[in-house]
Amino acid sequence: MEKYVLGIESSCDDTAVAVVSEKGEVLSSVIASQAAIHSEFGGVFPELAGRAHVQSILPAIEKALRDASITEKQIEAIGVTRGPGLIGSLLVGLTSASGLGMGWDIPVIGVNHLRGHLRSADLEEERVSYPAIILLVSGGHTFLAHMQSNTEIELLGSTRDDSVGEAYDKVGRMLDLGYPGGPVVDRAAKKGNANIPFPRPMLHKGLEFSFSGLKSAVARYLDALEGEPVVEDVAASFVEAAMEILLTKCRKALKAYPVKSLVVVGGVAASPQLREQAGALCEEMGVELCLPPLRWSTDNAAMIALATWDYLRLGKAPEPKPQLQLSIAEF
Ligand code: KG4
Ligand code: ZN
Repeated sequence: MEKYVLGIESSCDDTAVAVVSEKGEVLSSVIASQAAIHSEFGGVFPELAGRAHVQSILPAIEKALRDASITEKQIEAIGVTRGPGLIGSLLVGLTSASGLGMGWDIPVIGVNHLRGHLRSADLEEERVSYPAIILLVSGGHTFLAHMQSNTEIELLGSTRDDSVGEAYDKVGRMLDLGYPGGPVVDRAAKKGNANIPFPRPMLHKGLEFSFSGLKSAVARYLDALEGEPVVEDVAASFVEAAMEILLTKCRKALKAYPVKSLVVVGGVAASPQLREQAGALCEEMGVELCLPPLRWSTDNAAMIALATWDYLRLGKAPEPKPQLQLSIAEF
């Protein structure tokens, strides 16, 4: 009887549950999005996020099992995001997983959300050739890492302040484009001219990032404007600056480390501009570009389930307790 992992993800504003085999085959993936709840606030409202998870988690688990056409007897273990994330949101997933694990008498493993993103590029088929440079760009984090294999990770540089996704979301809010900012800012940017010289903070300083200066430069530009902004031009200028920062750091990392591939994961990896420009960079540098399909770039539980298989293979099972600090050592 083939066994599967049930993955549960509730770190932010999506309640997600998936059933995944050891090879990364996704039997089911359910995502209950809360975007409609948070859009009027232009960002995630933590208390409302926790409450919405409570409402949707059990139906999402039931649906994932039904869609996968398996019974709980075929589940080897449950993998659940233990952090980083919003504490109220994390606790809903963690307590649900612990209860189910006790009832079904199977192990429950706490999974680092970022490790989930790092593994998302291997869902459904193995795409990553190691060693690899990984650019993780999400709503909560932005960093570059070197991966010797799918479990040996060395952090090369992360953001000193905001993530690039946070900058996208705030620019989306400033321009009244809605939430989440990523897709709407990208769409507006395609129609605009990048004619506003926004800064590129820390462009030539190592492999670390900084996005708060870029975000406030957009705010200052809009504050100082007398008339209405040309929304598309502001978006295009912001996206051009963000891309230049991300791609410059990737080029630097690829020059410093002899690797086979560049892997771009996390919600901002859904950006067509980033996908296209990363493709051009990889061609220039002679490395493969590995991208998860769009549905695995943003938060999902299939990536959490795949990361759970790594922990099972390593015989390492972090407890299903909240992990509030980002600790690369605990990846
Ligand atoms: O990985 P993710 O789903 O959640 C976190 O772990 O944070 O990433 C969410 C982020 C948000 O900031 C959202 O605006 C951004 O990913 N995003 C995008 C796109 N789709 C989502 N950013 C740029 N272009 C997109 N198409
Ligand atoms: Zn995420």
